[in-house]
Amino acid sequence: MPYAVLQGLGTYLPTRRVTNDELAGLFDTSDEWITTRTGIKERCWAEPGQSTGDLATEAGRRALKSAGLDDGADVGLLVVATTTPDHPCPGTAPDVAARLGLANAAAYDISAVCSGFVYALEAAANAIQAGRVERALVIGAETYSTILSPNDRTTSVIFGDGAGAVVLSCGAADEPGRLLGFDLGSDGTGKDLIQIPAGGSRQRGSGLAAAEDDYYFTMQGKKVFAHAVHRMSDSSLALLKSVGWTPDQVGHLVGHQANLRILRAVAEQLGLDTDRAVTNIEKVGNTSAASIPLALADAAAAGAFQPGERMLLTAFGGGLTWGSAALTWPDITPV
Ligand code: COA
Repeated sequence: MPYAVLQGLGTYLPTRRVTNDELAGLFDTSDEWITTRTGIKERCWAEPGQSTGDLATEAGRRALKSAGLDDGADVGLLVVATTTPDHPCPGTAPDVAARLGLANAAAYDISAVCSGFVYALEAAANAIQAGRVERALVIGAETYSTILSPNDRTTSVIFGDGAGAVVLSCGAADEPGRLLGFDLGSDGTGKDLIQIPAGGSRQRGSGLAAAEDDYYFTMQGKKVFAHAVHRMSDSSLALLKSVGWTPDQVGHLVGHQANLRILRAVAEQLGLDTDRAVTNIEKVGNTSAASIPLALADAAAAGAFQPGERMLLTAFGGGLTWGSAALTWPDITPV
């Protein structure tokens, strides 16, 4: 049986950095409120005209490079996880595949909001393990700045833009980088907690015009906070049980960077020291589907991980959706 192994990691952040102080000039907020409630100090926002597909293409190119590959490499599958596709139709992935020269690769988008990267990783790992493809590219990419309401200080201070990508390849069972298991779940009864109310068939099919703000991203922060802690903790524990690891065997927990307080609470629920929970939310904010690969790359570049150490990824997002992945860390250099 083939095994899916992480072979390369690449990221791309837009060059425009937006500090809390800059946002305090646009909204009734402050650096102090944002820092204490979320842990965020700054985030990147795309330049006008820069799309999710643009960020995804650059991150994908860098992941290929990290894996020792170039544009046009033999990649059978590309999955793009995003909440902010370039167009409602078609998907963003086929265009990204074409721009990377991945001729005839299967390419599709996954819409699982902040859990999207873990969902996409599972789909790609399954394709490799089923023997359908030998190599896959998984990209989480977002331009939340395009869906944030200029009237909503709560969401506007939290979300950032960016992209992160990994290359998965066929490998051996004992190879560092191997993906060992996943836990995915959803609860659609919470669909209203995180949503863009207008622009889809629910609103269009009603024949009713929507208010302008309904085309923007909305979130019921307090309720989402409680769900995020509970779902990521439970999913992590379920996965640890299924792969036969105890929490103290986990080298690093890489959680979706939703809020520093959420990440600390999840680590606490798992009985892990907070210094084993990777955080980079301070610099990038919540980048939704891009958040886990961006956090992985930052920590890996800082030399935080040892090849072979056991890693637990966990995410929670709109839907509601959640997912966790277990892997060992490969000997790679992020680009
Ligand atoms: N600046 C200043 N004040 C703000 C503010 C901002 N940007 N946003 C909200 N406030 C105010 C609220 O209006 C409220 O005022 P009030 O007490 O006078 O009514 C007060 O701050 C507290 O708001 P509340 O929503 O209770 O704050 P909170 O501690 O729950 O923090 C979030 C808000 C959004 C940071 C927090 O709920 C959160 O992180 N939620 C989860 C987000 C998340 O994980 N999203 C992604 C999931 S994938």
